Amino acid sequence: MAVTITGLKTPPVLHIFNRRFTLRLAILLLFLLIVCVSNLWKIFTLDISEEVVMTNDDEEEKFRTTSRNCQPKHNVLFLKTHKTGSSTLTNILNRYGDIHNLTFALPQDGLYNFYWPLPFEKSFIKDMQGKQPNILCHHARWNKNPMKELMALDSVFITILRNPVTQFESTFSYMGFAHLFGIETGRDSIEAFITDPNGIMAKFANSSLAENVFPYLNLLKNGQVFDLGLASIHFHDDEKVNMAIDEIAANFNLVLLMEYFDESLVLLANEACWDVRDVVYFKLNQRKSADKEDKFSNELVEKIRLWNRADVLLYDYFNKTFWNQIKKLGSAFKDITMKF
Ligand SMILES: *[C@@H]1O[C@H](CO)[C@@H](O)[C@H](O)[C@H]1NC(C)=O
Ligand SMILES: *[C@@H]1O[C@H](CO)[C@@H](O)[C@H](O)[C@H]1NC(C)=O
Ligand SMILES: *[C@@H]1O[C@H](CO)[C@@H](O)[C@H](O)[C@H]1NC(C)=O
Repeated sequence: MAVTITGLKTPPVLHIFNRRFTLRLAILLLFLLIVCVSNLWKIFTLDISEEVVMTNDDEEEKFRTTSRNCQPKHNVLFLKTHKTGSSTLTNILNRYGDIHNLTFALPQDGLYNFYWPLPFEKSFIKDMQGKQPNILCHHARWNKNPMKELMALDSVFITILRNPVTQFESTFSYMGFAHLFGIETGRDSIEAFITDPNGIMAKFANSSLAENVFPYLNLLKNGQVFDLGLASIHFHDDEKVNMAIDEIAANFNLVLLMEYFDESLVLLANEACWDVRDVVYFKLNQRKSADKEDKFSNELVEKIRLWNRADVLLYDYFNKTFWNQIKKLGSAFKDITMKF
């Protein structure tokens, strides 16, 4: 499989995207700036003083997810997956950490991830002068032992998954794969790819472009289980995939789902013994995920699922455990969501 390129070079992305990519980045940054400014404006112009600031004890009670015979947990490892709404969650964790004066494990200066796609090592974090981090929430590829060793024993381990069909669609367009493979046929480039992925990959592997190692190619197939540590050579081995799923189930307190983001945050608040207000967020430019899958024919959806079979197994497994956890929260859950 030619997709399994796990190289690490200084920003190889530049070799491939050059001006086009820079332009996209500039537009994205401009857009984010506009969104931020308009949201700040909303904060200042809305009278939120009555709605959000609650001081009396009865009101406090409303926002508790549990009966509060627990201590809020300050140690969290968030395994950030790609194109799954994970940045919103990172923002929530950054805000929580800032408010509570917590210590973050950060990437080395000038980097924004822990040498992804390399499996995480403790040496990847910026020197912490002997301190143990409270929160790790930048992109890192799952590597159980160093991560467990790095974090305090009582840490909450969380990650987030997304319907593999929409995650694939989102990754494919965001990473500019159609451009990379020279199959830019406008709206149908995903169809063009998924109809003959192996042929297109073989052609690409044969081209001079393939000489530039492009680490994000690791996300072209089963990007979620890749982020969660499974090597691409095992994608077609269901036994290996199931072993990876078991490892995730055993080591993560929560596996959240982008499609049920609000419910996910309630689970997080409950698990970490946080106040629901700690996980309130702005819904910034989130596309309705259902819209995206709807535009694909059933046949196309099936092809995307087949290509991303390991991610489908992963998602299906945690889509079950997710609802079991919601059920366990029971009626408390309805109460909490009402207050969102
Ligand atoms: C934050 O923690 C550091 C020690 O880690 C301490 O020196 C500092 O005073 C704290 N700041 C606040 C605002 O609590
Ligand atoms: C997740 O599970 C729910 C409840 O069983 C189901 O309705 C939904 O279709 C599943 N989502 C996906 C993407 O498979
Ligand atoms: C790869 O390149 C060689 C020589 O340039 C050519 O003969 C061969 O057909 C190519 N294979 C594919 C799959 O494009």
